[in-house]
Amino acid sequence: SNEKNVLFTIFGGTGDLAQRKLYPSLFRLYRKGNLGEHFAVIGTARRPWSDEHYREVVKETIRALNPSDEEATTFASHFYYQSHDVNDSTHYQTLKELSDRLDGHYQLNGNRVYYLAMAPQFFGTIVSHLKSQNIMTKNGFNRLIIEKPFGSDYQSAFELNQQIREVFPEQDIFRIDHYLGKEMIQNISAIRFANNIFEAQWNNRYIDNIQITFGENLGVEDRGGYYDHSGALKDMVQNHILQVVALLAMEPPVAFSEKEIRTEKIKALKAIRIYNEEEVLENFVRGQYAQGELDGVQFKGYREEDKVDAQSETETFVAGKFTIDNFRWSGVPFYVRTGKRLTEKGTRINIVFKQVPVNVFKTSVDEPCDDTTLPPNVLTIYIQPTEGFSLSLNGKEVGQGFETEPIKLEFRNSAEMVENSPEAYEKLLLDALNGDGTNFSHWEEVAQSWHIVDVIRKAWDQTQPDFPNYKAGSMGPKAAFELLEKDGFEWIWQPDNWYRERG
Ligand code: BG6
Repeated sequence: SNEKNVLFTIFGGTGDLAQRKLYPSLFRLYRKGNLGEHFAVIGTARRPWSDEHYREVVKETIRALNPSDEEATTFASHFYYQSHDVNDSTHYQTLKELSDRLDGHYQLNGNRVYYLAMAPQFFGTIVSHLKSQNIMTKNGFNRLIIEKPFGSDYQSAFELNQQIREVFPEQDIFRIDHYLGKEMIQNISAIRFANNIFEAQWNNRYIDNIQITFGENLGVEDRGGYYDHSGALKDMVQNHILQVVALLAMEPPVAFSEKEIRTEKIKALKAIRIYNEEEVLENFVRGQYAQGELDGVQFKGYREEDKVDAQSETETFVAGKFTIDNFRWSGVPFYVRTGKRLTEKGTRINIVFKQVPVNVFKTSVDEPCDDTTLPPNVLTIYIQPTEGFSLSLNGKEVGQGFETEPIKLEFRNSAEMVENSPEAYEKLLLDALNGDGTNFSHWEEVAQSWHIVDVIRKAWDQTQPDFPNYKAGSMGPKAAFELLEKDGFEWIWQPDNWYRERG
C-alpha cells in the first residue's frame, strides 16, 4: 500500500497556517489513503490546550470538506497536543516521551516529520533542541519542513542554514515555497519540455520579453505586524517570483528529477544579474497603496491598516526588470510585478514573442509602407485563479478583402478539475513524505535569491520613497507602466473574464 507510517510534530499547531492549510491537507491525504492507521500528529504551541480541545479545533478546520462524523472523529483521534515553550529544554523531554509512546502505539517505525509553522525567529532554536535533546530517531527518517521566510537577508539566511545543517542534511530539509505546489507552476515544465514548438523558440531569437504578474486584491489583512517588517520584495519576489523566473529560464534538465532540476534552476538564478545601486533604481520600482475604491467598495490606505506604522515606508508593490546574462536570455527582459490591493487576484505569465520581421500585408512593392506592426504572439500561462494557457495568433478576417485579425487559442482546466485537484500544501506534504524535494527550495537557490534581492533592498533603503503612490484597486503606480514603456513594451493584461463568468 502507499500508506505512510509517520509522526508529524507541528510547531505552531494552534496557528493560522496549521488551521487553514495543514490540517485540511492532512485530512485530504488521509481520505485518499496516503495516511492510514499508522500516523499521528503532535501539535505544539504555548497555549495550554487539552487533546480534546485540540481535536475539536482540528475537526472544525476540516468541516468544509464535509467528512462524516465518524470520519472526522477517527481522523482527529490521531492528534495530540503538547503545550510547549520552544526555549525550555525540559519541554523537549516531554515531547520525546510522547513521541516515543505514539511511535509504539501507532507503529511509526521511527519516521518523523518536524514542521516549523511558527514565527521564524524560533526556527534555529527548535532545530538545535531537536538534536541536543535527542528527539531524533535512529531507525526511521527525520525530515524538516520549514516555512518561509527563510532569513530576512542573505546573512541571516546563511546563519539559519548553518544551524539547520548541523542537525539535518540538505536532503532532509524541505523549505516550503507553496507556489511550487501549484498546478500551473508545475505545468510550466510540461508546457516547455513536452512541446517542441515552444522549447524550440524559447530564447532571445524569438522572445521579446517575459512578463510575470502576481496580483492580489487583498490588502495585508491581519498580517500587518509581519508585513510591515517584510514588504513585497521579501514577501513575494525573493521566493515565489524568483522561483518562477528560474523555472521559465532554466535549461532543459537532463531528466525530470530533483537533482537535475535543481542543478538547472541554480544555474538560471546565478545568471540573473546582480545590479549595482544605479541599476536597481533604474530597473526596480516600489509602491504603497493609498485608500481607493473598487467595484463600489472603499478600501483603507496601507498606512491606516491594523498594526502598520502610520508613516510606514514599507512597499506593498514591486515592479522590476531582471536581466539574465547567459546565451539563451541575453537581451530579453524578464519583467515582474506583484502587489497588494490591485484590481484583481490574478497570477499570470506572458511570454511575448518577437513580431514578424515584415508585415507583408501592409507592404506593397510599388509603395513601400513602414507599418510593419502586427500584434506579437503571446503565450499566456494562467496560474490562478484561472488555470490554463492561451496563445494569441494573427488570422485572416473572414470576407472578401485581406485584413488580419488577432485570434486566441485557449485551454482552461475546468472548474471541476480545479476544484478536485490537490491543494498546493497537500501535494507538498505528500512529496515530503516521499522524500521528494523537487518542489522545494534548495539552499543554493535561497542563497542566490537573497543575493539578488539584498542589493535592491539596500539601494531602496538609501532613498526615501514617495508613498503612498497608487490607489487601492488600481494596477499599481505609474512608474510600473513607465518601466516597460521606456523599453518600448507594455504590460499585456486583460481582465480575467473567464473566471468572473464562473464566479
Ligand atoms: C505568501 C505571502 O507567501 O503568499 C502572502 O506571504 C501572499 O503575503 C501569499 O498573500 C499569496 O499566496 P496565494 O497562494 O494566495 O497566491
